[in-house]
Parts: sequence; structure tokens; C-alpha cells
Amino acid sequence: MAEPIVDYSRPKGTRDILPPESQRWRGLVGVFADVVQAAGYGYVVPPIFEHVEVFHRLGEATDVVAKEMYEFTDRGGRRLALRPEQTASVVRMFVENRPAVPWKVWYAGPNFRAENVQKGRYRQFDQVGIEVLGVDDPYLDVEVIALAWRFYERLGLTQVRLVLNSLGAAGDRGRYADALRDYFGSHVDALSSESRETLARNPLRVLDSKRGNDRDIVAGAPRLRDYLSPDAAAHFETVQDGLRALAIPFDVDDRLVRGLDYYRNTTFEFAADALDAAQNAIGGGGRYDGLVEEMGGPPTAGIGFALGVDRTLLACDAESAFGAPLAGVDVFVVDTTGGRHALSLTDELWRAGIRADRAYENRSMKAQMKVADRSGAAVALIVGGDEAEAGLVTLRPLRRRDGETATQRQIARADVIDELKRTL
Ligand code: HAM
Repeated sequence: MAEPIVDYSRPKGTRDILPPESQRWRGLVGVFADVVQAAGYGYVVPPIFEHVEVFHRLGEATDVVAKEMYEFTDRGGRRLALRPEQTASVVRMFVENRPAVPWKVWYAGPNFRAENVQKGRYRQFDQVGIEVLGVDDPYLDVEVIALAWRFYERLGLTQVRLVLNSLGAAGDRGRYADALRDYFGSHVDALSSESRETLARNPLRVLDSKRGNDRDIVAGAPRLRDYLSPDAAAHFETVQDGLRALAIPFDVDDRLVRGLDYYRNTTFEFAADALDAAQNAIGGGGRYDGLVEEMGGPPTAGIGFALGVDRTLLACDAESAFGAPLAGVDVFVVDTTGGRHALSLTDELWRAGIRADRAYENRSMKAQMKVADRSGAAVALIVGGDEAEAGLVTLRPLRRRDGETATQRQIARADVIDELKRTL
């Protein structure tokens, strides 16, 4: 019998994030946490998989659900799916746990979509995001958008464009979809075959088509703004006023239809102009009033956004913003007496809150010093035979600042922590 082919490589569309990039990754999530926690958002951790019905609420005809979901049957015969996003999970959490409103939460973690892979488009990708449940106030829309904007500012990104739209209330959206169906229906012969197929499932998505003739046909399509009810139009006006008050620039684009069906009223996307157009959407979100009710909860307003961590870091690369923090340690312990001293010294340093690393395998002084130099530490603590006998440690500066002579000195083993706290 032929041996099955063993493949230990990572699956298509996944990534290995190694240091120092992983430090930068954590740094980004840390900045996000600072921004949103200062605004009263609490951290939630939704499960990575849910009953598949939870995600059907994104729209069974959307690409995310119809084509890209990782669905499976578990050993108990349950139909489950890896989460393609986290809004539906957060809403499910809300319905199941009934927290007091307003419920303001944030999250960070991986999502899964079986997409065509390219740079910036992965099958496992990370998002950070926020959701607010129970508040129907256009100034909350402004707050939510502003928090994303302030986050980008904190990263040092300057080429981010906010694109805004209103999809209107549920009825508005339905009437608009009917109008589009009529319009595209009368041009169906000129549409691309992909758009013809999309039209049957979701006429709003045809507006997104960049194929051949489609662009010209889309240009003449009915405009969503003409289908907004007075309430929806007033809500949208207030959102724009609020953004102006905070001096956050935006473009209104009433062709902006997002890839998920739950949106109502305010929707938005952040585009990074430093990236190629195919994956320059670094974040997006909007209102989803109605979703809680669809999942069996009381009528509850909802709004939020998710920002792609992978793509945001690509945008940072393109703008030379938010570099990897200098990771590593402050102290490197070199022990040529066998390693027992290094063992206890590093433990002592760590307990005192000092970042430290060491060499292993009792190698030569020269070999250990080489590792010390590479570690990025500011000082080496050296324990050789003489030091060990005399109860001393040699402290040798590793990185010389300009004009400073690096002189090493010996200190008593018992004074090491105090001495380092004074000098580091
Ligand atoms: P989304 O637009 O599907 O919205 O995703 C948000 C962001 O996640 C995108 O702008 C993009 O940066 C990133 N992203 C999406 N798919 C991929 C991928 N395959 N590879 C890399 N990055 C990707 C949502 O997920 C909604 N849950 C947002 C939301 C929250 N709406 C309301 N609340």
C-alpha cells in the first residue's frame, strides 16, 4: 500500500508570526486595548467556534457564509463553524448572558475564511474590534468611528481614509434592493456572468463589481441616498456633523456596501492609501440594529467595527510607522563555572523585575560573550572561577554610548540587584 504523503508545512492561508514581528503584533493589540479601555470598553473572549446558525445571521447569500466558512460536524453530530468574524458571536453572547446595557466590549483574536489567498488576504487572520449593544444614538456612531481613528493616529498612520455610508433602516434597504433588482434586471444581458449570479443572491453586492462593462452599468444604478427614510437621513446627518466636530475627515460613498448582510444605517470602512487597492480595507463596521432580535433577544441597537491586524501592520510597514519594539533583555548572565550561578542569578533578577537572559551548556567565555553581545542587553554579569570563590560578580557594559568608555568592575554578589536598579 502506498504511504500517505506527510505534509508538515503550514496550511495555505495561515501565517507563522515570529519575533520580532510577534512583539509588534502584541504591541498593536496593547495600543488598541489602551485606546478602548480608556473609553469604558470591557474585554470579551468569544469562542473560536459556534453553532453554524449563529453565522448564518451574516447573510446566507454572502460570500463569507456561502463560500468561505469552515464548517464541520463534531463527534456529537453538531454542525459547527470556525468563526469568520466576531460580531455574531458577541451578539450571541449578549443574548445568552443578558448583561446590562449599554454593553461596550472589545475583542482581539483570529477569524477564519476560506478566501483566495494573496498578500493581505489570509484564511486565518486576526482582528481587533469593539461592539456596543443597547444604544440608539448617532453620537455613539461618532464615538465608535473616532476610537478607530484615534487608534490609527496612535500607531502613527497618516494615510488612512474614512469612507462612510448609510444603508438606511431595514425597510429602506429592502426598497433599494428591489429598485436595484429592477434596474440590473433590465441590463442583465450586459452584466458579467459573475454579477448575474450575484444579482440573484444579493443585488447590493453587484454595486461592488469592478468587472468590464459592469462599472458602466453600476454608474447608472439608482442611488441609495434617494431611498433613505427621513429618520435614517437625519441620523446620518448627525453622524457627519459629529465627525466634523471632532475634525475627523471622511468621504461619503453611497456605493459602499459591506460584505455582510446585518448592516443598517451607518456603515464605514477605513482604507489605507499606502496599500494596493485589492486589500487596502484595513477595517470596517457599522450599525446592526435588529441582529439581537434575530438571534432571539429583545429589540436592541448595535454598532461596532473590526480592524484587520495583519493588514494594519502592512499599512504600518508601507508608512514606516509603528516599528517593532526593541525586545530582549537588559542583562545577560555569563557563567563559566558550570551554570549553577547563572541559574540562581537569573531567577533573582527575574524576581526583582529585571529582564535577563543567560547562556547555556557551560561554553567558553568567548562563546558566551558572543551570545551576550547579540542579545541586545546593556550589561553582562560575569561569574568565573575567581568571582565565584570571592563572592563577586563582574559587571561589564555591553552597549557603549558615544564618548563613554566601557569599564567593567566587580561588585559583591549580594549587591547585584541594588546596583543594577541604580544603573539600568
Ligand atoms: P469585515 O469587513 O469582514 O467586517 O472585516 C473587517 C476587517 O478585517 C477588514 O477590513 C480587513 O482588514 C480584515 N479582514 C477581513 N478578511 C480578511 C482576510 N481574509 N485576511 C486579512 N484580513 C481580513 C467584519 O468582520 C465585521 N465583523 C466588522 C464589524 C464589527 N461590524 C460591526 N461590528
